[in-house]
Amino acid sequence: MIMIRRLTQADLPLLRQVWKENWGDEFVVAHGVVYRPDPLDGFIALDGQEWVGEITFIFSQDGCEIVTLDSLREGQGLGTKLINSVIAEARKQNCKRVFLITTNDNLNALGFYQKRGFEMVKINRGAVNESRKIKPGIPLIGMNNIPLRYELELEIVL
Ligand SMILES: CC(C)(COP(=O)(O)OP(=O)(O)OC[C@H]1O[C@@H](n2cnc3c(N)ncnc32)[C@H](O)[C@@H]1OP(=O)(O)O)[C@@H](O)C(=O)NCCC(=O)NCCS
Repeated sequence: MIMIRRLTQADLPLLRQVWKENWGDEFVVAHGVVYRPDPLDGFIALDGQEWVGEITFIFSQDGCEIVTLDSLREGQGLGTKLINSVIAEARKQNCKRVFLITTNDNLNALGFYQKRGFEMVKINRGAVNESRKIKPGIPLIGMNNIPLRYELELEIVL
């Protein structure tokens, strides 16, 4: 059975490893900001002791930003459970907006979020070039064999 629980300090080494495997390093870059796991809030999806998903987020004056979301067992409802956990937390904190950055190549994520009520609100055409200056490992060709160029901001207003 899948259990969702809060991220703790003890989870950080494993979170760094998941980021490294899925995002190429122990940090991610979005809208020019470097995010490391340490200050982030999050939830972990577990099947017994095994990690099967993670979501991290942070509150700021812009709202609740989802920083990373990784399902390690796709198509079983984990991603949905994880974003719903963040939305519930945002509501609890009286936050009116959950948002995230994804990139133009990630067609799966763009579909996934839109089907769950998120809308595209911003496009930043130069953003990934800027991110590459901080994180040179970001590939030129991204998912689905699409040139990786733009950041897209999606939001759901609560
Ligand atoms: C995007 C991502 C998080 C989605 O996670 P996921 O665990 O596959 O999400 P879900 O299982 O909740 O939903 C995926 C699909 O599976 C379907 N599904 C869910 N439970 C299911 C089940 N028990 N049986 C069959 N299908 C199911 C959902 O309906 C959904 O399809 P839809 O989007 O057409 O409605 C995942 O693909 C991922 O980790 N991608 C790589 C990292 C990434 O891109 N992260 C986001 C960047 S911001």
